[in-house]
Amino acid sequence: MFNLTENTDKNLNKIINGNCKDVLANFDGNSVDLVVTSPPYDDLRDYTNNESWNFKLFQEIAKQLFRVMKVGGVVVWVVGDKVTNGNKSLTSYRQALYFQEIGFNIFDVIIYEKTGSGPPHKNRYFNIYEYMFVLSKGLPKTINLLKDKVNKWANCQTYGNVTRREKDGSLTDKGRKTVNDYGVRTNIWKYTNGKGFSTKDEIAYQHPAIFPEKLVRDHILSWSNEGDVVLDPFGGSGTVAKVAIQLKRKWISIEISKEYCELAEKRIKPVLCNTALL
Ligand SMILES: C[S@@+](CC[C@H](N)C(=O)[O-])C[C@H]1O[C@@H](n2cnc3c(N)ncnc32)[C@H](O)[C@@H]1O
Repeated sequence: MFNLTENTDKNLNKIINGNCKDVLANFDGNSVDLVVTSPPYDDLRDYTNNESWNFKLFQEIAKQLFRVMKVGGVVVWVVGDKVTNGNKSLTSYRQALYFQEIGFNIFDVIIYEKTGSGPPHKNRYFNIYEYMFVLSKGLPKTINLLKDKVNKWANCQTYGNVTRREKDGSLTDKGRKTVNDYGVRTNIWKYTNGKGFSTKDEIAYQHPAIFPEKLVRDHILSWSNEGDVVLDPFGGSGTVAKVAIQLKRKWISIEISKEYCELAEKRIKPVLCNTALL
């Protein structure tokens, strides 16, 4: 049978060394379920072999992402801003607005509250957040809301009694309402990041800007199901690939630096071996 996603399928479960602008151009349209990614932030870091990061390149990649996403697919775009002479770039906002202009829904803006962001600045508040723009092509086709917020009323004896006011003014006791132990979390997600916390894989810290594995796990669980295709076009040390393998998703990791591709290969090799044994 003719396979509509043949070009994307042949890249499944691979780390691809290249500029994602060019690599994505060879993917089929409507072939990816979820993207979890973090691009270079302004020019905050000088990544090896990095084609200079600018808004035009971002726009080309954004358009490719819209094309390759399935209807209902979700892109999680994790980004922060540079401050120059007391002026925030707000490149993150420009990117979000551009995504909206080309057809994505801004389904949510989740705040990534983090630790380990370096010493406090002497004349501004300590920055502890980045944005996680949750973009969707149409409405998300998969939404598995995480229920891990402790309900403070769960074991409370006085909360949950339901009464009804009768016409004569008296109250009828309708029994107790069940309050679950956990409720849906808010859209501020907090992770302890930095060495020893983001991952236990020592090798990953050879990359300067890795995702906490837990953050990736939470997004993959929220917006995809087993067997779905999860892509990271700025794959770095392979965090998304690693967690996707653990969660039984298909995956693709694109990374411009050969050195980081090799790092990611080494990092995910034991994970692939462990899952093969299952
Ligand atoms: C913020 S880091 C992502 C790190 C990743 N989330 C992780 O957990 O390791 C961005 C990565 O994108 C890569 N990169 C920059 N421009 C790229 C491009 N045009 N195509 C593919 N990768 C690119 C950089 O080399 C860098 O490793």
